[in-house]
Amino acid sequence: MDRYKGKVIVVTGAGGGIGRASAIRFASEGGSVLAVDFQGEALSKTLKIVRDAGGDIHGVQSDVGDAEQVQHYLEECVSVFGGVDVLFNNAGIVGGIGPLELLDEATFDELFRVNVKSVWLGMRFAKPIIAERGGGAIINTASAAGLTATPTLMGYGASKHAVVGMTKTAAVEMASMGIRVNCICPGIVSTQMIQTIENKSVSLGLVSSADQYQQAYSDRTPLKRYVEASEVAALVAFLGSDEGGMITGETSVIDGGFLQS
Ligand SMILES: NC(=O)c1ccc[n+]([C@@H]2O[C@H](COP(=O)([O-])OP(=O)(O)OC[C@H]3O[C@@H](n4cnc5c(N)ncnc54)[C@H](O)[C@@H]3O)[C@@H](O)[C@H]2O)c1
Repeated sequence: MDRYKGKVIVVTGAGGGIGRASAIRFASEGGSVLAVDFQGEALSKTLKIVRDAGGDIHGVQSDVGDAEQVQHYLEECVSVFGGVDVLFNNAGIVGGIGPLELLDEATFDELFRVNVKSVWLGMRFAKPIIAERGGGAIINTASAAGLTATPTLMGYGASKHAVVGMTKTAAVEMASMGIRVNCICPGIVSTQMIQTIENKSVSLGLVSSADQYQQAYSDRTPLKRYVEASEVAALVAFLGSDEGGMITGETSVIDGGFLQS
């Protein structure tokens, strides 16, 4: 498939599970990918995988919650690839796990810096650059946790509700420029982030093992398993492409039916 031939896509959190799978997907469909992550080693691994497969990718090590660094990675994208057509605002952290009174203030602030402010900064600074190309698409990573209660994950859930809200407003504000803005709401995806949640849940005594956590979630999910990162990447690639051309302001759930159960 050549849906992204001639297109430039920025992927943040590109060293992580969903970001890496998406960088691979965009590049495999002919796109030029600007990969952003603050972890150098993880970022390098993504660059190597994509290049070894013959893909076009350039990496920038940046903190997505810092305005200057966001401007820098976008400037770098324009300088290396000539512009931006699609922004996948995906980097995120899970923060603390536990009842709300145990969530400390520093963790709460960091969750909003990395999960919320970064999404606004990315949209803010990418808007004129994407508009210069005559339009394009932005996809923000929210979560199923942005649509429902998330006991033991209050800060994370609140940050993802904010991403859903920002997506709707940005979609309306940017429609006249031909920029579509959507968010994705994955259920549990097999990545490093979920391993962190599983392990913390064990240490808090909420479950006896990571396997038990996975089993309980899978049992409750109509399709009976975690989502694969490559399945999320396929959704993101659809939303960013012309095939998703009449979709904007939408929250696309990919959770095996979990929210309906
Ligand atoms: N894994 C899940 O079950 C799940 C479910 C729903 C939503 N999400 C969301 O998907 C997104 C990707 O998560 P993932 O599952 O791939 O997790 P992950 O931990 O594998 O990847 C997250 C990546 O973001 C990067 N990152 C974190 N803070 C950053 C910062 N300040 N600047 C730059 N990069 C930063 C990390 O280095 C990491 O490579 C996140 O926004 C997460 O909240 C994940």
